[in-house]
Amino acid sequence: MNIILLGPPGAGKGTQAKILVAERGMVQLSTGDMLREVRASGSELGQRFGEMMDRGDLIPDGMMIEMIDARLDEPDCKNGAIFDGFPRTNAQAIALDEMLQRKSLPLKAVIELTVDEESLVGRITGRYSCAKCGAGYHEEFQRPAVPGVCDTCGHQDFKRRPDDNEATVRDRLEVYRRDTAPIIPHYEAQGLVQRVDGMAEITEVEGAVAAILDA
Ligand code: AP5
Repeated sequence: MNIILLGPPGAGKGTQAKILVAERGMVQLSTGDMLREVRASGSELGQRFGEMMDRGDLIPDGMMIEMIDARLDEPDCKNGAIFDGFPRTNAQAIALDEMLQRKSLPLKAVIELTVDEESLVGRITGRYSCAKCGAGYHEEFQRPAVPGVCDTCGHQDFKRRPDDNEATVRDRLEVYRRDTAPIIPHYEAQGLVQRVDGMAEITEVEGAVAAILDA
């Protein structure tokens, strides 16, 4: 089963994708994580990606489409993929339709996490993750059980994303409104869009997403 999680920065796409990975053995295809890996490699391309991401700009469509096309050919994607952060433009959405058809991978649903934009700034600026295993936390909504210690791996160093500051978040929200929200009608026309209240508690969002997947 393949699904798209759609919503503005901080809507909870990554949070819900990680739950689905843990509970259903699906694969999270986070283009943001893929780009951060290339960035961390220190390559020239990675540096260029980093500059664009820090401004909140989108990486060119062709590169993103190639990245996802190649990743979908890896064997783990046969268990079902969660598209998290892709597609983000009309061109990406059209390319994904073509790709899924060519690879005989049906799309079960496009789950839009609906949120109140103003609260997203607080969600994103309060977010941090374990520097070793990447488990995600939030200063207010998702603290580790033992303060300062990762629940998953016990590591005690944490990090924040360079694009998680208020100015960049506002730019990313604008890019979402301009480039990504307009793809919703593309999927509405295919009868695939399901909406979930992303302002609910994380476990409630999880339940609503599970109900869609199990329908
Ligand atoms: P990306 O990494 O995809 O970032 P994003 O879309 O801005 O999404 P986020 O990861 O910020 O938010 P999320 O919805 O996953 O929220 P999360 O679950 O962490 O992209 C980064 C950049 O890469 C882009 O700006 C662009 O430059 C580039 N890029 C990526 N893909 C691209 C593409 N396809 N094309 C071109 N460029 C691309 O939740 C946020 C916080 O809130 C967490 O701390 C969490 O604990 C908390 N939280 C989550 N749910 C709840 C809840 N229900 N209640 C309370 N708190 C909650």
